[in-house]
Amino acid sequence: MKRVLVISSSFREFSNSDGLAQEFIQGARENNNTVEYISLAGQEIKFCTGCFTCQSTEECVFEDDASRIVKRMATADVLVFATPIYYFEMSGQMKTLLDRTLPIYEKNYKFKEVYLLATAIEEGDEVFNATKEGFLGWIKCFEGAELKGTIFAGGLNEAGEINSHPARKEAYEMGRSIS
Ligand SMILES: Cc1cc2nc3c(=O)[nH]c(=O)nc-3n(C[C@H](O)[C@H](O)[C@H](O)COP(=O)(O)O)c2cc1C
Repeated sequence: MKRVLVISSSFREFSNSDGLAQEFIQGARENNNTVEYISLAGQEIKFCTGCFTCQSTEECVFEDDASRIVKRMATADVLVFATPIYYFEMSGQMKTLLDRTLPIYEKNYKFKEVYLLATAIEEGDEVFNATKEGFLGWIKCFEGAELKGTIFAGGLNEAGEINSHPARKEAYEMGRSIS
């Protein structure tokens, strides 16, 4: 049984990438994992200013939602990120949150398994490649952490279209595989 933290970054109602996150959560819960879900919608996530104060204090100078979310990240065994693809990359809000993880960089964090769920209008691996590469760059900075799984679902434009997409089952199975 693991502690799983799912961070969903789309701000849209009936978001497609969030649909994948919900399936993942259902599978992970059914396999008796403890799952926490955080949507970035409505959260205050300031940009990292690169002041490096956190490298000596282990605390960010900002007391916003991102600081609290990063602390939740540090105590999870498994991290799952869901993102819409924006211009072939992860969403800006997700990247901004990742930048804010500097307080736990080379410090105490538990997570070893990381998953990425993404949706876009276009189909094909090349649509997802830059998103995956960018995310791998972040993971590489957290020794011991590994990208354990990815799901990319293309062909999704309007909100809610995920409801009839086969990737939902894939996301459920991926969540269910966590033990
Ligand atoms: C600013 C912006 C940029 C986007 N860039 C791309 C893109 O590069 N490739 C693509 O296929 N879809 C792109 N899309 C479409 C979204 O990735 C797609 O609608 C996705 O399913 C939205 O997921 P969500 O419902 O979880 O927000 C873009 C959408 C927005 C709003």
